[in-house]
Amino acid sequence: MNRKRLILSTGNSNKVEEIKYILKDLPIDVLSKDDLGFKDLEIEEDGKTLEENAIKKASILAKKVEDMVIADDSGLFVGYLNGAPGLHSARYAGDNSNDRANNIKLLNELKDVPLEKRDAYFRTVIALIGVDGKVTILTGECKGTIGFEPKGNKGFGYDPLFIVEGYDKTFGELGEEVKNKISHRAKALEKLREEIGKMVEDE
Ligand code: IMP
Repeated sequence: MNRKRLILSTGNSNKVEEIKYILKDLPIDVLSKDDLGFKDLEIEEDGKTLEENAIKKASILAKKVEDMVIADDSGLFVGYLNGAPGLHSARYAGDNSNDRANNIKLLNELKDVPLEKRDAYFRTVIALIGVDGKVTILTGECKGTIGFEPKGNKGFGYDPLFIVEGYDKTFGELGEEVKNKISHRAKALEKLREEIGKMVEDE
């Protein structure tokens, strides 16, 4: 029997490796869009929710292949800022912003805001499209607090500012091994593993 294939809409090599690792025990082949020659396929993330963006990215790729497809979208949602940076997490400080500029902007927006009002959560949404076109949404969240200064140099994005609930340390301090067990992305990917496992079993 031919092995099933799962195509990832991301070209980000860190994400590709993380997803391959989590799905490694399933009898499927995991490939990125770049592996299939769609490296230049850029999809504008213009949805109003993470769900809309993930579904859009997955659907456009699903039309081009005959395999299962996933796309993900994540963001940091800060309570005091009514959910900002949220959908705009990657470009919070402007179109050409980087992690450092985004972190500085976030700290400025929360200047003088006390710790008890600095609650936040990361959220990941994964859209899985089966070969039959069925869309399944898998989500993961991780709660925490935004610190007053960056701590730790591991990870990326807002990791140095995000103090993880129950750990009293930032993702920047905790590092990959712990993060990959408790993060928003890890939780969504675990649900994805279960879902694909069922799909493969049902065949
Ligand atoms: P993406 O949809 O996974 O590319 O995430 C969008 C943006 O959200 C990233 O560019 C980061 O700014 C932020 N973000 C998402 N996940 C994380 C994380 O695990 N740590 C820190 N920042 C993150």
